[in-house]
Amino acid sequence: MKVNHRSNPGSSVRLPAAERARWVLSVWLPCLAYAIVRYNVYKGVEWTHLPLYIVNKSAAFAGVILVALAYLIGKWFGGPAGTEPVRARAKFLGLAGFAMVTVHVLMAMVLLSPASYEKFYEASGKLNLTGELTFLFGVLAYCCLLFPAISTLPYMYDALGMERWLKAQHMGYAALALACGHTLAMGSAGWADIASWPGSMPPITLLGFLAALAGLGGKLWVTRRHRR
Ligand code: HEM
Repeated sequence: MKVNHRSNPGSSVRLPAAERARWVLSVWLPCLAYAIVRYNVYKGVEWTHLPLYIVNKSAAFAGVILVALAYLIGKWFGGPAGTEPVRARAKFLGLAGFAMVTVHVLMAMVLLSPASYEKFYEASGKLNLTGELTFLFGVLAYCCLLFPAISTLPYMYDALGMERWLKAQHMGYAALALACGHTLAMGSAGWADIASWPGSMPPITLLGFLAALAGLGGKLWVTRRHRR
């Protein structure tokens, strides 16, 4: 690992490129494979829609997992919290998750139409309540993610001071809570209808919800442990 001299926590070490690639690929490729098998293979979505519609699902899924992992490392796995290698990994996972979610948002913007997402629209072509709530939570979640992402820029720790820097980092928890709202609003209607799951595979909305919940669960677990 290279040593840098910037004071942001986690910035004194730079993860090797091979490790960074390993993290991203080991999360994203299984998400892509899951989306292809569930939607193209079992649900019969045409292969024409693999490049954007299906890849978008995999980016959203991988993004929320990476962000959740950023907040779980040092709590549930990866070694003791607060050490520079763990902070460096948390920083990398968070930024990789943010990048994936940004790809998801851009792809969703391109796809957004009643033809791609019928369940978000009324017959008039306007958004229905599901669509309104889904996008409200999605946009707010993305706004919250901007805080930890921006505060990892070089020298932000010096500029903000420890307290404000930590508050900015903790906005990721709000993003995870809002991501729960985003996936719940769009998907919960189909979660209990197991018979309708293509190939008996749980919906990505449900798995994304659980990933975000796990990220929040890590925080709850640590807070309780400190109180004891
Ligand atoms: C401007 C903000 C956002 C917009 C417009 C947006 C849009 C969408 C759309 C249209 C879908 C449905 C995809 C589909 O069914 O194929 C979706 C799904 C999803 N989104 Fe977002 N999203 C936003 C932000 C976020 C954020 C910030 C996260 C996570 C932190 C996120 C995580 C997810 C997940 C996990 C799914 C489920 C994927 C699936 O089942 O296909 N989204 N989003």
